[in-house]
Amino acid sequence: MNPYPAVDPIPLPAPVWLLKLLHVVTLALHFVAVEMLLGGLLLAILLSLFGKSAHSRVTARALARRLTVVMTYVINLGVPPLLFAQVLYGRALYTSSVLIGLYWIAIVPTLILTYWLLYKFSARLEQGKSAWWVGLIAWLLAGSVARMLSTNMTLMLRPEAWRAMYSASAMGAFLPTGDPTLTPRWLLMLAGGLLIGGLWLVYLAGRRTFTADEKRFVAGLGGKVAAGFGLVYLAAGLWAANVQPDAVKTGLAHGVAGHALYRYEGLAGYGWIALVVVAVLVGALAGFGKICATWIGWTGVLAAVLIEILFTAYRDGVRDVTLLSKDYDVWDRVVVTNWSVVGIFLVLFVAGLGVIAWLVSVMARAQKTMEGAA
Ligand code: HEM
Repeated sequence: MNPYPAVDPIPLPAPVWLLKLLHVVTLALHFVAVEMLLGGLLLAILLSLFGKSAHSRVTARALARRLTVVMTYVINLGVPPLLFAQVLYGRALYTSSVLIGLYWIAIVPTLILTYWLLYKFSARLEQGKSAWWVGLIAWLLAGSVARMLSTNMTLMLRPEAWRAMYSASAMGAFLPTGDPTLTPRWLLMLAGGLLIGGLWLVYLAGRRTFTADEKRFVAGLGGKVAAGFGLVYLAAGLWAANVQPDAVKTGLAHGVAGHALYRYEGLAGYGWIALVVVAVLVGALAGFGKICATWIGWTGVLAAVLIEILFTAYRDGVRDVTLLSKDYDVWDRVVVTNWSVVGIFLVLFVAGLGVIAWLVSVMARAQKTMEGAA
């Protein structure tokens, strides 16, 4: 019996390829922000807990000041992919969301608490008070939000588990077990945080608000973290890919008849490996080669964004091939495109990205006080 709810009779208002493209682009940007949050926060906590030098305190404070802003990007860049995912995969995603309903809803208050704690963490660091434990609670909460998202994004791929879960309890109060892909996938995101967090520090070291000494410290630390955890991230990625079902591995490696895209998304996995290696080298140059320059910071930023785009493309292939093996073809939808509306949407979308870029540039230019100033 088909486990999916009936398809919505309202046709899709735009081609599937366009919705998928927008989904991958916006989700990759969400992932950049998520990794900055998870990795940057952990680094700031460790620096404030173990760092004895003034440089450590300055670096922890510099990260914490920016994390509240990063959180706004995490949230706002999470909304568009949520909407695109619901349009494309609603029948699977709504079902899994209902099955873990209580936890899914709990994400909202957890986020609010995390956000508040980030402000507290930053304020306590500014005041020179002990702050690591506040940051740690925020990090654990953010990590649990990540866990909930990984849980839902993997449960939506397991229609065979839904009926038994719902029969056991319709409350949405217990979590699925027995999926070998869940934990590797979640740990992959956590490991990526330290790679991206390290690259973020290498980039920050190029800011004029640090003294020459601080720059060397920040770039050296960030580079070493990026180089070391880049390798951990690489290993976690290979693990997460390896635990996928055989049908998914084969589909991504050799393609699926009638779906050329999945072969390319499989190849994106190789691109991801190559770019993580580049990021590790960037980290090694900054961390061990003691190169502290603007160009290396920007190379790290570019690598970080491309890594997340390729990762998201591969992940998209994993989802589609998994669902295809369970009779859910995301392309099999009635589409009635309203091009004038799509045109207006695209203009606003590009304008929105432009406004975000402008906001980022205003913020970058507005930071005039030295990081070490009280
Ligand atoms: C502390 C805040 C957050 C963290 C740490 C976080 C982390 C994550 C992680 C780890 C994933 C990948 C899960 C996986 O596939 O294994 C993810 C996916 C996702 N997140 Fe977030 N997230 C956060 C906030 C949000 C918010 C506020 C939204 C929406 C308003 C959001 C929307 C999404 C969506 C839609 C996906 C998956 C989309 C897809 O697969 O199509 N996230 N997030």
